[in-house]
Amino acid sequence: MIYFQIDKQGNAKYIYKQIYENLKKLILEHRIPLGEKLPSKRELAIDLGVSINSVTNAYEQLLAEGYIFAIERKGYYIENITDFDQQTQRNAKFPSELRESYTNEEDWISLSHITTDISMFPFQEWLKCQQQAIQYHQKELAQISHPQGPFTVRKTISNMIAFTRGVICEPEQIIIGSGTQPLISQLMDLQPKNSIVAVENPGYSRIYRLLESKGLDVTPISLDSQGINMEELKRVNPDFLFITPSHQFPTGKIMPISRRIELLNWSTAEENRYIVEDDYDSEFKYDTDNIPSLQSLDRNQRVIYTGTFSKTLLPSFRISYMVLPPILLRRYREHYLDWIHGSNSLQLFALHYFIKNGEYKKHIRRMNKHYEEKRKKLVIKLKEKFMNSINIQDIPAGLHFLAYFKSAKSYDEIRKAAKQEKLELYTIQRFLLKEDRELSDDIQLVIGFANIKPEEIDEAVERLYRIIHS
Ligand SMILES: Cc1ncc(COP(=O)(O)O)c(C=O)c1O
Repeated sequence: MIYFQIDKQGNAKYIYKQIYENLKKLILEHRIPLGEKLPSKRELAIDLGVSINSVTNAYEQLLAEGYIFAIERKGYYIENITDFDQQTQRNAKFPSELRESYTNEEDWISLSHITTDISMFPFQEWLKCQQQAIQYHQKELAQISHPQGPFTVRKTISNMIAFTRGVICEPEQIIIGSGTQPLISQLMDLQPKNSIVAVENPGYSRIYRLLESKGLDVTPISLDSQGINMEELKRVNPDFLFITPSHQFPTGKIMPISRRIELLNWSTAEENRYIVEDDYDSEFKYDTDNIPSLQSLDRNQRVIYTGTFSKTLLPSFRISYMVLPPILLRRYREHYLDWIHGSNSLQLFALHYFIKNGEYKKHIRRMNKHYEEKRKKLVIKLKEKFMNSINIQDIPAGLHFLAYFKSAKSYDEIRKAAKQEKLELYTIQRFLLKEDRELSDDIQLVIGFANIKPEEIDEAVERLYRIIHS
């Protein structure tokens, strides 16, 4: 007979749980022999002084988990349970180096290039678009979407980028993803493992590291005044070239038309050569109109265009997309036949209405004005404070610029001082992809102005001055 005590003070669920836990323990400790028949539900209920229901629930749970088995009209028996090879206890101590530490961000000022200004985000309008999405897309919201994302949303994006960026594509060519990295990851998984890949140096380190982690042969190529260095490019002879022609990351340079054409000519000189155009922040141009994309000049379908809503909306939305030439699209469809699309359809349909209702255009216009004011103010204040010890690459575009500072400090010292001063700051070192690349004597900082409040600019410049000079 089975002996254990039950505390009968609690509710029925609590009682059933106790029976279940006690029996489980006895089975695991082999205190009830394998194959032995358990008492009938009625017997056990009488013994324990509980309801038959409580015992039934406990037996059903043990049956579902595989601790016991049932023989019809006979009863329940103890299952033959596999023993663990190692009988050691679970190591309860979590490795300290894996612990996450949280910095208290109070009093910090951000000069990060990777954030946007949430204070101006039209949440009310976004919520209205979400409501429209819920009202008109019940069927799609109840299903998983097409592996490339909902067609309606792709159609809206393709119309928009045709108009704003001159991108020539069908909605079928668009792949929506939850970030540029996952899209590039998918794209490169379609390529032969021995593909040669080239990236800009300095450049977007997250993509560089992703490509390296895939075991691809990745070479950073230096920049000249027009963009990627053509001689180096020809020497490396990559199958895939990753560039940011509309606003080079992080130097901010805009690639002139002749270099664009040179690159397109280069791309067609060999079979299976592609250029990946990362058009991450081209919506923000302050003195000029939008500059057409490289893809718009491509006559041979050698450009893979990637765009994102991380800068124009919010980075936390995780909505990005890429446009594949038909040859690659065919391979994509074959390879990702069973792929379950990873974006949130509600957000995607909300985006569709946000664009369709004209809110997106309005928001970008408003943000261009707002960012330009902040950028101008920050540049003026920096020049006033640092005088001839600063040289700013003052290119009126994007959400960051590169600045050179005369300083006796090392990059390490700058980083430490920035932490003490509570100023979020990125140095060029993070984006130099080849260690042997020579650094100039100046300290180069990538200064983002999207997230700083206008009233914080004076204080940020004071903190930066102390970081650089004291
Ligand atoms: C150079 C560059 N490319 C692309 C992106 C966009 O990335 P995602 O679409 O994953 O947010 C960023 C974001 O900061 C970027 O700096």
